[in-house]
Amino acid sequence: MILVTGGTGLVGSHLLYLLLNTHESLRAIKRVSSDLSATKSVFKSYNAIALFDKIEWITADILDVPSLAEAFADITNVYHCAAHISFSNSDYQQLLKINVEGTANVVNLCIAKGVKKLCHVSTVAALGTSLDGSPIIEDTHWNPEAENMGYAISKFGAEMEVWRGSQEGLAVVIVQPSVIIGEGHWQGASGSIFSMVKNGIPKYPKGATGFVDVKDVVKAMYLLMKSEVTNESFLLSGTNLTYQEIISEISKAIGAKPTKKAVKNWQLWIVALLQKMMYVFTGKKPSLNKESIGSLQNISTYDGSKITKVIPFQYTTIAQTIKRVAVAFTAK
Ligand SMILES: NC(=O)c1ccc[n+]([C@@H]2O[C@H](COP(=O)([O-])OP(=O)(O)OC[C@H]3O[C@@H](n4cnc5c(N)ncnc54)[C@H](OP(=O)(O)O)[C@@H]3O)[C@@H](O)[C@H]2O)c1
Repeated sequence: MILVTGGTGLVGSHLLYLLLNTHESLRAIKRVSSDLSATKSVFKSYNAIALFDKIEWITADILDVPSLAEAFADITNVYHCAAHISFSNSDYQQLLKINVEGTANVVNLCIAKGVKKLCHVSTVAALGTSLDGSPIIEDTHWNPEAENMGYAISKFGAEMEVWRGSQEGLAVVIVQPSVIIGEGHWQGASGSIFSMVKNGIPKYPKGATGFVDVKDVVKAMYLLMKSEVTNESFLLSGTNLTYQEIISEISKAIGAKPTKKAVKNWQLWIVALLQKMMYVFTGKKPSLNKESIGSLQNISTYDGSKITKVIPFQYTTIAQTIKRVAVAFTAK
């Protein structure tokens, strides 16, 4: 039996659908506070609400070992998608706790319960930066001296826990997606891009990054788990685009006004300052800081081709992804 963590999130929801559609028997964890509605809407987008009812949910938190141990009963394979995603400095301790300690708990239970294979969802943020401008690959090593975001530090720490597990005999595969585009979680870290474009983005950041379809991410995870491949990591990124390009493509697809001007660094700093001041009144955590401004304004490109050389796998084009997700966004 398969265990999925993070099944109420973007990646986990699409993974649950894929696994159930391929007749896998599975259990998914949710927290007491979890909201299942976005997962349900993902199943609706697949026209498969009957499959949603087949999910065996168990209440567990990856920080609560006794509840997690119960979820591990009779489990042979684990997909670990759960993580805390935040670009706010004030979330640093929570990021370390959930992403590093939570992953250590998952790894330890995998070892204790004799799990056959673990697929861990990491991120390109856990990789280093390219010094010569060449695309970042799996071997672009993390630089602890760089100005890393708390999220990146926590996801790098999570990977270290997974590699520690592999040293202790657990078979693992790690996927490192770039920005994931997919339907059904419109309030989430990447799902909110569509809402932001719809509401109008006054100015675009000057940087560039990688993008990948959520369906490609979960398909890659599934195929890697089914394969003989173990103890390897795979950067998953289908295309590199500037923020101007992705905003323009999404605007066209959903009929929103295009963004014509680039934002300057000092303008982002003013917004960061305003966010800090507003935090006092609204309690909404600031997302802009030195590190996140840097990543929005920097050009980072990614080479996600390793997986295509190891297993039969092809990326969906970004045009196809945006077209499909835009239809779901407009219909929501
Ligand atoms: N979205 C992206 O663009 C992107 C890009 C690269 C990598 N990733 C990685 O992909 C994975 C999935 O991301 P996502 O976009 O699907 O995130 P998401 O939509 O924010 O979902 C996060 C999931 O983690 C669960 N979770 C958080 N803390 C937990 C805890 N203490 N115990 C149990 N479950 C907990 C959440 O449960 P609740 O519903 O209870 O909150 C939710 O199911 C993460 O590892 C992330 O780092 C995401």
